[in-house]
Amino acid sequence: MTAVLLANVGHKVYCVENNKEKLAALSQGICYFYEEGLQDELTQAIAKGTIEFLLAAPEAVSQSEAVFLCLPTPNVPHMIADIGILNCVIDEIAPFLCRESTLIIKSTVPVGTSRRIEEKLNCTIGEKNIHLIMNPEFLRQGNAISDFKHPFLVIVGENHYKSSIMEQIYADIIQAEYFYVDTSDAEMIKYASNLFLANRISLINELSVLCEKTGANIQLVRTAIGKDPNIGNQYLNPGIGYGGSCFAKDINALIRMGQAANIHLPLIEAIQSVNNRQKQLLIEKATSRFGQTLYGKRFAVWGLTFKPGTSDIREAPSICIVNNLVMFGASVTAYDPMQKFIQEKTPSLFPVEYASDPYIALNGVDALFLLTEWKVFTEIEYSRCVEIMNSPLIFHGRNVLDPVKAKEVGIELIQIGVPM
Ligand code: UGA
Repeated sequence: MTAVLLANVGHKVYCVENNKEKLAALSQGICYFYEEGLQDELTQAIAKGTIEFLLAAPEAVSQSEAVFLCLPTPNVPHMIADIGILNCVIDEIAPFLCRESTLIIKSTVPVGTSRRIEEKLNCTIGEKNIHLIMNPEFLRQGNAISDFKHPFLVIVGENHYKSSIMEQIYADIIQAEYFYVDTSDAEMIKYASNLFLANRISLINELSVLCEKTGANIQLVRTAIGKDPNIGNQYLNPGIGYGGSCFAKDINALIRMGQAANIHLPLIEAIQSVNNRQKQLLIEKATSRFGQTLYGKRFAVWGLTFKPGTSDIREAPSICIVNNLVMFGASVTAYDPMQKFIQEKTPSLFPVEYASDPYIALNGVDALFLLTEWKVFTEIEYSRCVEIMNSPLIFHGRNVLDPVKAKEVGIELIQIGVPM
C-alpha cells in the first residue's frame, strides 16, 4: 500500500520483496492478494514508471533517502512479538544506508524496540547518522487506500529531534494533523488503538450473550447507546468475534508485555477470552438445535474471509466454525467472493466443497451459516433461499440481514444477542 500510493504521487519507489513468487506477480503488475482498489493503483504506478520491484535490498537502499520497513512481526509462543525478520533486514541493509538516511518503521513492534534498534545502529554505523522514525499505520483491510489517504492523525515517533521528513514525503497524498512523540509512545499508540477497538467488540459481544439470556435485543440496545456521542456507534456490531491479523496478535502482545513487566492485565486478558468464546457461539446454537452430533447434516457457509473487502483469512472466525461443523459430522458447502484466492493459497484450511455461486451452495442444505457480511450476502434474495434450501434456517453471525423480510418468507433467523 505504502509503496504503490507513494509511487502514484511521483516518488521513485523501490519495493523489495524476497518471496520470488510474490515478486514475479508484482513485477508483472499483478496484486497477489485482494484489497479494494489496490490493483488499479498498482497498474497506474507501473504505467508511470515510478515503482520498481526488486529481490534484494542493497541496490534499493543505497539509492534511497528514506527506507520504509513494512515487515511482519508475527505472534509466536512466549514472545511479545517476533521481531526476528525486522532485525535480520536491518542487519542486512545497515551497510548500504546512505549518510543521513531515514529509516521508517511501519511494522507494529513491542514498546522500546525502535529505540533499541536506533541505539544498535548508532553503535555499529554511527558515523552515518541514521535517523529513525516510528510511523505506525492504521489501515483497515478493505478500506486501506482511504485510510492511508485520510488518517485520523499521522503519528511520528522520533527520539532526538522533530524533523519534517514525514510531512515532506506525505505532502501530496495526506492532508492531516501530525502528532510528534518519541518512538516508545508511537509504538504504544498503535497497540492502544487496536486494544480499544477490540475491547468494544468483546464488550458488545459479551453483552449480546447477556441480552439473549435475559430477553433483551442487542440490536436495539446498541443502536440506542451508539447515539450517545460519548459512546459513538463504531465497533459495536456484535457477531462471531473479531478476526484478522491485527487484533488477536496485538492483544496477545499486550498481555505478554504485561507478563514481561510482571503486571497482571485482567481486562486485556478478558478481551481475548471473550473473543475465543464468541467464535464457538454458532456451533453451540447449531448443536442445541440439531443435537450433540451433526452427523448427516448438510450446511452452507457464506463468507470465509475475516471481513468483507479482503482475501485475508488470518484468524477468521470461519476457520473455527467450519472446522467444528465438520468435526461434529456435518458436510459443508461454502461460497466466498474470494474463494479463488483461498483455494490457491490454503487449499486444505477449510474442509468444504466450494460452490460457484452463493445460491448453488444452498442446494438441499439443512441450514445456512452467514459468517462474513459481503454485500452479495446482505442483498440476499430471501424467497429464492426458501425455494432452494431443505429447511429455511439461517445461523446469522453478523446481524446484517433483515429479520422482518426473512420472517415474511418463512425463514427462521438465529441471531446473536436476539432472543428467539
Ligand atoms: C484493524 C484496525 O481497525 C485498524 O485501525 C488497524 O490499523 C489494523 O487493524 C492494523 O492493526 O493493521 P482490520 O483488522 O483490517 O483493522 O479490520 P477491522 O475493520 O478493524 O475489523 C477487525 C475484526 O473485527 C473483523 O473480523 C470484523 O468483522 C470485526 N468487527 C469489527 C466486529 O466484529 N464488530 C465490529 O463492530 C467491527
